[in-house]
Amino acid sequence: MASYANNYVFLLLCLGLSFCTIAFGGNFNTDFNYLFGDFRANIQTGGNVASLQMDKYSGSGFGSKNAYLFGRFDMQIKLVPGNSAGIVTAYYLSSEGDHHDEIDIEFLGNVTGQPYILQTNIYANGVGGREMQYYLWFDPTQNFHTYSIDWNPQRIMILVDNQPIRVSRNKQGSGVPFPTNQPMRLYTTLWNGEAWATQGGTMKVDWSKGPFTAWFSNFNANACVPSQSNNCVGFNGGTNRGLSIDSRKKLNQIYSKWLVYDYCHDVRRYANGLPNECRRKSPRRMALED
Ligand SMILES: *[C@@H]1O[C@H](CO)[C@@H](O)[C@H](O)[C@H]1NC(C)=O
Repeated sequence: MASYANNYVFLLLCLGLSFCTIAFGGNFNTDFNYLFGDFRANIQTGGNVASLQMDKYSGSGFGSKNAYLFGRFDMQIKLVPGNSAGIVTAYYLSSEGDHHDEIDIEFLGNVTGQPYILQTNIYANGVGGREMQYYLWFDPTQNFHTYSIDWNPQRIMILVDNQPIRVSRNKQGSGVPFPTNQPMRLYTTLWNGEAWATQGGTMKVDWSKGPFTAWFSNFNANACVPSQSNNCVGFNGGTNRGLSIDSRKKLNQIYSKWLVYDYCHDVRRYANGLPNECRRKSPRRMALED
């Protein structure tokens, strides 16, 4: 596999250069498999850091070796700088099959100087359509920031630098589908979304600026693996407790300041009625209650 070969080359280089240090965290080597993109998917620095590239022939990606049922997944990501129009960097959990579950964090690139959109979505039993989109309060191409998915039987939380930006509670009791029984693998991919991603699909990838590279580091999973445990349903390893008053306040600020799209407010799209979980409370109210 290309990633392993490259890692080997890197090791040899490091042995030859005495100032080169290698961090042995090994997370990408031990926890992920190469998915697609050949040499474009690279594991570096002993497994702590990985990069994905996209050029006009292909994007690239990794997928976790384990399938998880509940857990908290942290990844530091540094996005494609400059003109990243049409490029989607994705960090997501997904099960397999026709009625799959999925929890998405996707970064929709933009032309130079214009803001990325962080899009989140949740699929349960094959049904998605629960997008929430945000601008970020920092430039995500300058430094690594930590993006987390925290999934337990009670709720799904998406976090940026440890601050919750989305809390979706399990309301299966009120007929709202929620992922609770299909193990999911974790994926990081870089792919061409120029048909829709940037300014409604009007801004295309500028291949003359490629190849495009996004960076991933310090992966951490505190998660349940069904093949190794018979009690994932009792999983309590994430931040299961409610939100602190402070992060509740911040979550409300984020909803009012940085949220740019909320499916629960899209009455044109859901002309025949908003999804069940939207009807009673706005996300603002939900955040206050959680
Ligand atoms: C790109 O920039 C435009 C103009 O500022 C903005 O409307 C849009 O939301 C940004 N993000 C994407 C992904 O199109």
